[in-house]
Amino acid sequence: MSSSSASERSASALDVAALPWSSEQLETSNPELETLKRHVAEGLRRPQKTLSSMYFYDDEGSRLFQLIMALPEYYPTRTEFKLFTQHQSALATALRPAVAQEPFFLLELGAGDGLKTKILLRHLLDTEADFTYVPVDISGAALDGLAASLRDELPALRVEPIVADYSEALRLMAARPGRKVVLFLGSNIGNFLPADRLTFLRNLAAPLSLNDRLLIGFDLQKDPRIIRAAYDDAQGVTAAFNLNLLKRLNRDLGADFDLAHWQHYTDYDPLAGTVRSFLVSSRAQAVHVTALNQTFPFAAWETIHTENSYKFTGPQIKALAAEAELSVTEFFTDEQDYFADVVLRPLQ
Ligand code: AVJ
Repeated sequence: MSSSSASERSASALDVAALPWSSEQLETSNPELETLKRHVAEGLRRPQKTLSSMYFYDDEGSRLFQLIMALPEYYPTRTEFKLFTQHQSALATALRPAVAQEPFFLLELGAGDGLKTKILLRHLLDTEADFTYVPVDISGAALDGLAASLRDELPALRVEPIVADYSEALRLMAARPGRKVVLFLGSNIGNFLPADRLTFLRNLAAPLSLNDRLLIGFDLQKDPRIIRAAYDDAQGVTAAFNLNLLKRLNRDLGADFDLAHWQHYTDYDPLAGTVRSFLVSSRAQAVHVTALNQTFPFAAWETIHTENSYKFTGPQIKALAAEAELSVTEFFTDEQDYFADVVLRPLQ
């Protein structure tokens, strides 16, 4: 249970990678790998090549993201942490049932190391709230790590991790009696394209009842230079994070991306309110992907779009909530208005 999440998370990928590459063996491999193959084949076939940012987070990618969160330029994590610290009492009041003894569930989608959530958990325990913390992740190993650290730091906390995708977990929990409070922090919502964002929110809201609550973290629009710097740090950690996607494809799909000829490029577009990240081919080259039995040509300076990180305004958040048939009950921001944690409830 408490063994290193890093080694467990990559077990299936490593088993496959250890095999000699042949298409027969690959066809009988695991469903996660099949999905990766399909996504990569589709993404690299497009006129504007793309790879999904959800594939950043292998063991090395997760380690690099931990480093990103500690970078001086990467303000979102630090800001949301401060916001949680400052507003913990008001946040708890907005989320917990009005009747103090009423039991409830605190679900967290994509909990990570739970650093911000622990502030809220500690506060709720200190004020004798009757609740169960339900971290949700598709990686069982990531949840084991979190559960172990919680047993250590907050032994009185009831924890019921669910290894499932978000909608599956919400469906499971909807059947249980009591208020459900669903956390989706860290501006993870910023990774969705606008249409997908709305679909995601509607799916989140669908199984909820009037008594339930959502808490969503949104990174706000601000000085564009500050936003740009957060995704192009001086130490090059974000570059390593982006480039690691190619290393992952080399390992998991037997691709032969030569990292000497790929660069990280990112920019913030204030019109669209989004940071777009790219991998840039610094020369004409062809990349073979053994698992797909395919070669992909790249022109000099052709790009692969790897991530969108949307930044929001207050009115955009309210409009999004209304479209998803949710209403904003509380809007918490830090003193610089860099980040917002928004409490929402179903309209009907
Ligand atoms: C984890 C999606 C919130 O978009 O800010 C950080 C990921 N990418 N640096 C973000 C990320 C580059 C991060 N999220």
